[in-house]
Amino acid sequence: MIGASIQKAVALLQMEKIVAIPTETVYGLAGNAYSPKAVSAIFEAKNRPSFDPLIVHVADSSRIAEVSREIPAALQPIIDQFMPGPLTVLLPKNEKISDLVTAGSDLVAVRIPANQLTQKLLQSIDFPLTAPSANPFGYISPTQAEHVEAQLGDKIPYILDGGACEVGVESTIVGMEAGQITIFRKGGTPIEDIEQVVGPVKVRAHSSSNPEAPGMLKSHYAPKVPFQVGEIKALMSKHVGKKIGVLSFTEIYPGIPAAHQRQLSLNGNLREAAQHLFAAMRYLDGQELDIILAEWMPEEGLGRAINDRLKRASA
Ligand code: TXA
Ligand code: MG
Repeated sequence: MIGASIQKAVALLQMEKIVAIPTETVYGLAGNAYSPKAVSAIFEAKNRPSFDPLIVHVADSSRIAEVSREIPAALQPIIDQFMPGPLTVLLPKNEKISDLVTAGSDLVAVRIPANQLTQKLLQSIDFPLTAPSANPFGYISPTQAEHVEAQLGDKIPYILDGGACEVGVESTIVGMEAGQITIFRKGGTPIEDIEQVVGPVKVRAHSSSNPEAPGMLKSHYAPKVPFQVGEIKALMSKHVGKKIGVLSFTEIYPGIPAAHQRQLSLNGNLREAAQHLFAAMRYLDGQELDIILAEWMPEEGLGRAINDRLKRASA
């Protein structure tokens, strides 16, 4: 059921049920982070392997201390500057956060979402919410309540509707590795913005062999239809005779029906492109195509997060 009642969401969460919530990045599948019952229900609804840890959401920075024993000094300026917002920090967990949430790691991923409904929700409860993206494991993340309803509607009692997500890609994950500030997942806070505050940071390449590596698995965010990324015209010539879908940044490709193409931002704005990315992928995935061809975005700002998702969708 989709609705906008914070009271209803609060009541369900207090009963250790799970509820889909809007954030500015993507919709999350939320439960009481202190409740093993709620946390297990999240893994189950998503069909998520237990080695993939969950992000814990709190209302404001004063409540980080409720889930973490300390904040590394180097990360404090990043927290001050970018939270609330599309950013997650990896911090030493405290004893209230179970191994189930962190998949056995001593670190907990903490996020303060800026979305107003979810802010109000978090301020109305006295426990943090653990929430992965509200999609079946490995599929495209939801950026509208209807996306959640289509895939998980029968498994969860309530979807809190906050409209379309403004950022559209998941949070940037930042932590410390070997004493250096490290980006574990490219996301809604551009790396360039972080570097303006703390100077150059390390960017960790993702890994499919080591699931413990934060920033996740190589294949993810994937549509059901085969998905390839590259120069669209060159790819089109390799798939003659097939029903082709096109996901481009700005360009309209002649020879492909309009209903089989999506431009992420006609005027070349990477923020708008990120906002539209997952809905466009989902749309094309529903058009009974043989293959979807996507093109790379400029490798700067949010383009880096978009390219990361395109790469994983094609893996
Ligand atoms: O924007 C977001 O971050 C969204 C919204 C709902 O908050 N959430 C999200 O969660 O993207 P999820 O579960 O789809 O991705 C979380 C990723 C995990 O796959 C993992 O790689 C990393 O965060 N992660 C979580 N806890 C971690 C930990 N303790 N250590 C390392 N990585 C962690
Ligand atoms: Mg996810």
